[in-house]
This record gives sequence, structure tokens and C-alpha cells, in this order.
Amino acid sequence: MIEPLRLWLPQAIEFGLGKTDTVWRHLGEYRRVFVLCDGSVLPFGQRLSQEAETRGLEARLSADVVPEPTFEALDDVLQQAQSFSPEAIIGIGGGSAMDLAKLIAVLLPGTQKATDLVGIDKVKGRAARLITMSTTAGTGSEVTPIAVLTDSEEKLKKGVVSRHLVPDAAIVDPQLTISLPPAVTAATGLDALTHCIEAYTNRFAHPLVDLWALEGVRLILANLETAVACGTRAEARVAMSMGSLCGGLCLGPVNTAAVHAMAYPLGGEYEISHGVANALLLPFVMQFNLPACTEKYARIATLAGIQEDSPPEIVARKGIMRIRELQERCGIPTNLRQLSIPQEAIHSMAESCLKVKRLMDNNPRPVTLDDAISIYRQAYEGTLEV
Ligand SMILES: [Fe+2]
Repeated sequence: MIEPLRLWLPQAIEFGLGKTDTVWRHLGEYRRVFVLCDGSVLPFGQRLSQEAETRGLEARLSADVVPEPTFEALDDVLQQAQSFSPEAIIGIGGGSAMDLAKLIAVLLPGTQKATDLVGIDKVKGRAARLITMSTTAGTGSEVTPIAVLTDSEEKLKKGVVSRHLVPDAAIVDPQLTISLPPAVTAATGLDALTHCIEAYTNRFAHPLVDLWALEGVRLILANLETAVACGTRAEARVAMSMGSLCGGLCLGPVNTAAVHAMAYPLGGEYEISHGVANALLLPFVMQFNLPACTEKYARIATLAGIQEDSPPEIVARKGIMRIRELQERCGIPTNLRQLSIPQEAIHSMAESCLKVKRLMDNNPRPVTLDDAISIYRQAYEGTLEV
């Protein structure tokens, strides 16, 4: 049975080279603008803020975005925003900056605390205009109703899901990704690939969302290596940005599954970046899920260039290996030892990831504690036995 499709999407998605200029149109009549940007794109944030003032707006810029932000980090920037009383928030950057901007937009009035928002549909509303600008091709956060924070006490990532987190406008300008370093391009690109694969093989997959997911897989598999090796190739950057946007569009209605749930403890406890954690775990979770979604993995394999000249299971296995090879060629670590994760941590990480029921429940094959331990062990050794 197909579940009803719930679409929470921005009113406008601007896509293409040079589209950052459309931000003024989407601000409409709002005059006080809080701009939150990643430190890595500070010059762009400064230019945007200066242009806002040239246009007669009042702008306040903050670049206090830390990777994998905690509740405390959110509080810091929220106080900055509240002291300015903005009418509009612009979040510029990767997932961390955009997630913080989304949360600030709903927390501005001070009627709810961030910890009250964790879970699904806990946000009561939003008064501020919200615009997101993605500067990486990976997170998809620019179009999602989701924001993720790290709970530094529980050492676990926690998700807020609400239609009030959906930006009014999302701007995806691949020009902003041209200067991304290869390592960031690789990790974020493989995160986007994971969004598409986990949506397509999700227990709650939907045929309409599959269209985005498969197009995202196709674009990313065809362009990631070029974007990593030769970042100034605009056509590869455009394709990666579209692939990432396709992945982002899948996240609201269907979302991810065990790869993301298992990546959470790596980020929460060991501060491994979201993209690297997902990229590393993807082939191992695919290997585990293979019996539950053989045909779908075979379809993905054909998009990776594998010929359909064998039974689906063989084609699917070749596809998983192809993704593993892509991961290696892009310079992603291939085992948890390379990330200095202690082997003794595997049991507690396995327990932690099972608490992320919001995502684990989406996985095409149920994951028990023993399964999670086994997957982490394989990822620790880096042994893929497809
Ligand atoms: Fe992700």
C-alpha cells in the first residue's frame, strides 16, 4: 500500500548559476534582515549584508556557525538574532548554517525552547521570513522541514521536524560551490547520494519521490568524481547541485534510514562530519539491506554503469562495489579505524543508533542490536563482502 504523500516544500526554489541575486525578490517587504553564514563563505555574507544596506534594509551578519552545532551553539546565535529583532532570516552555508537559521526563525519570539522542538510537529509557528542559500551540494537542508542538533550530554544528534522549518524560498546557486575543496565536495556529494538511495529504498518510498531519488542518483554518480577532481567545471557543479536538491526534496516526504541513524553517533560522540560518516557507512548498510531491496539496488547499479546481464542480486552487488570504489576514489576513509574510532565504542554506538527510531523505522530491513554491532564491526575493519 502506498502511504499518502505529504509535501512540505518552499513556495519558491531558485536554481541556477547566478540565482543568488533573486534573494531580494524573495525578501519582499521585510526590512530587518539577520544573515547567518558559515565562516567559509563570510566574504559572500558580507557582500550580501552590504548590498542589503545599500538597498535601504537593516542587516545584521553573524558567522558564528560551528560544524555539527549543539543546543548551546544554537543559543548563542539565537541571542544575537533576538537582540536585533529581525523580520527575516537568511541562512547561507551547508547544513549547519541553514539548520540553525531555520531554528532561529521559529525560536525568535521566545515562546518555545529548542529542547521542546525535538521530534515531529512540535513547533507552534513562525513569524519571520526564512530564506536559505545552499553553498554545498549535499545537505538538501535548503528545502527540508528538518533541522538537526547535537545533544552534547547524550552525545547524540536530535532532529526537529516541522512544516514551520520549511523556508519561504530556497536558493541553489551552483556558483557558490565552485570553490569548495575536494574533501568537502566528496563528503557532501556522497551524503546527497545517501539521501537519494535511502529515500528510494525506504519502507515508505513513494513512486513520485522515486523520480527525484533516481534522478539524484544518476546525476551524482555521473558527476561527483569530476566535481571532486576539477571543481571549476561548472557543468559538474550544476549537476551536483541539482542532484543534491533532488536528494533534499526526498527528505521531507520520505527521509533517510539506517545509514543516517548509524552516522549520528559518529557525529555526536566523535565529531565526524555528517557527510564523511554517511559516506563511509553507506556501502556497509547497503550490503546489510541487500536481501530486502535487491531489485532497487540493481536499478541503482544500472545508473552506476553496471550492465544488466546477470541476475538482479549480482547486478546489485556490483553496484554496491561501484559505490565503494567511488567513495575510495573521492578520498573518503574506508574504515572506522582511519577515523580513530575505538573498537570498544562499537557496542555503545550500536545502542545509540537504535534510539534514532525516526530513521531506523524507515529502513527496508529491520536492524537489531546485533545487526548494528555487526555493521559497525565491518565498517571498523573496512571489509565489504559483496
Ligand atoms: Fe544527510
